[in-house]
Amino acid sequence: MSNIKDELCAELDRRVSDKILEPTNAELLKKLIVNADSDNEAMMIAELGTTYKRTGLHFDKRLERMTDDIRYFRKNNELSFHTDDKKPTHKLIIGDNYEALQNLLIQYKGKIDVIYIDPPYGKDSMGEFAQTNYQNAITRDNLLSMLYPRLMLAKMLLSESGVFFCSIDDKNQAYVKCLFDEVMGENNFLFCAPRITKKGGKTTPTIQKNSDYIIAYSINPVVFSKLDKELSSYTLEDEYVKERGKYKVSQTLDYGGLSYSKSLDYPLVIGSKTYYPGGSKKDWEDRQNGNHGKSDWIWRWKESAVKWGLENGFIVLKGDRVYTKTYANCRKKSGVNELEYIEAEKSYTTLSYIENDYSNDNAKKELDKIFADADTLFKNPKPTVLIKELIKMVCDKQDAIILDFFGGSGTTAHAVLDLNRSEAKDGDLLDGAKPEGNRTFILCQMNEITDTTPNGIAYDVTSKRLKRIMTGSCYDGSKDFEWIKKNKPYGGNLDIYEIDSVANFEFSDGKTPFDVIDETLYGCEKFKTLQEKIEWVCGNFSNTQKIVENEADWQKRISEA
Ligand SMILES: C[S@@+](CC[C@H](N)C(=O)[O-])C[C@H]1O[C@@H](n2cnc3c(N)ncnc32)[C@H](O)[C@@H]1O
Repeated sequence: MSNIKDELCAELDRRVSDKILEPTNAELLKKLIVNADSDNEAMMIAELGTTYKRTGLHFDKRLERMTDDIRYFRKNNELSFHTDDKKPTHKLIIGDNYEALQNLLIQYKGKIDVIYIDPPYGKDSMGEFAQTNYQNAITRDNLLSMLYPRLMLAKMLLSESGVFFCSIDDKNQAYVKCLFDEVMGENNFLFCAPRITKKGGKTTPTIQKNSDYIIAYSINPVVFSKLDKELSSYTLEDEYVKERGKYKVSQTLDYGGLSYSKSLDYPLVIGSKTYYPGGSKKDWEDRQNGNHGKSDWIWRWKESAVKWGLENGFIVLKGDRVYTKTYANCRKKSGVNELEYIEAEKSYTTLSYIENDYSNDNAKKELDKIFADADTLFKNPKPTVLIKELIKMVCDKQDAIILDFFGGSGTTAHAVLDLNRSEAKDGDLLDGAKPEGNRTFILCQMNEITDTTPNGIAYDVTSKRLKRIMTGSCYDGSKDFEWIKKNKPYGGNLDIYEIDSVANFEFSDGKTPFDVIDETLYGCEKFKTLQEKIEWVCGNFSNTQKIVENEADWQKRISEA
């Protein structure tokens, strides 16, 4: 054996001892190297052993069933409704979201501003629920397999500035996060925030599980909006109220500083009284004699800053303690004795969603007002306030398109309608009042049949909820639900589609599948001419031909064809 082959084999052995290469792979490669026809060939074989062990997510991908037919949206005119031409028209697509997403690409590629999904992840065992969803158990492989192609399609729908949110429980979060990393790109990860599911719960031998997670991704960097500062605790006023706003007195000037500093532990003389950090002169004397902890009482401000604070109305005395005022619009600039004006807003945090409003308990209360039997009808809806806040956080477009392809009870739709409404200010539009938002939602929900929804969730829950809150009455015209007693219907229009299929090879009544689809596609009437069809396709299929020829050119090309 040549020297080179020896060296290559030795290098492979080194890689095995460095745990870079699996021993079995090294053995096979060495065998091939020994039998290689030339040193060159041996070197190419050795190259195969330089691959490092892969890290990342591995799961058995199961493919979607392939069918021979073409899937398309057939409008359900009986369930669809229009209340007001001036208001947006939303969409509910009934059927498997895999086919729904494929069809949505025709019109919405790169156009969706916010995607929120709450996939089913609750069950790991075989069951009716699992079978209706994936024809199989929801094992983790199945959850990931089911999500993977759907996330790929959804990513194509997302706009350049869009954000993709996913709710997920603690058990699956790590895996689903890895899947999102793979599809959306790890560098496009925005955050993972806990969300309260419930406040209390039964006693447990281990730990109460009271939260799930929201993970968020974008395609490009996103600037989040800000929250209005909660100002209800700012109740006091002084002579500076105009510039500084109201103030509260909740912060003492002294504190148990993490790192004791003698220069900040000085006696503070105000008027005829002397104040000490912590309030006790004796303790202060002890500290001055060196009896202080690593962390001990000190003032937050230097002497010069306190002098400035006194002159500028920042200091309040209460008993033996000294306080600083916290103004709504202004504070002392850090490190210098100057005023700093601050915006009356604050950033969202990853703890923004742990307040009780965001809990499932709150969501149940909402659904209870729309359906008398909500508790059994639909388990675990999300609260509208959660989706509203997520949309507001990342997207200030008044005409944003919001997609939820695991629509469930229709919370995302409800949230979009409410967000549109909440922006409107009553009054004359000329008088500075704001009109309602124009956001539209697209919801996909398969018609999963459960014990309590014999006609399927989409018919028994999703479409009914939307009909009730948008028009103010049920499909049978009755108004027998709590919500309408205290709320004004949102109005607007809803196009409901079913996913239908046409064989890709059959002629029915002498028509090609394309004729059949033309007649039904997205509510279009049958195209009268080929040009009409081309124009429709060009107008609606993004990334296809952008220019429609003029009549003369088109006639010329057709006649030459
Ligand atoms: C956890 S729920 C969503 C709940 C929703 N966020 C709400 O607040 O009501 C998930 C929903 O996705 C639906 N679903 C599951 N697999 C689906 C699929 N392949 N296509 C469309 N919907 C699906 C289920 O029927 C279920 O209603």
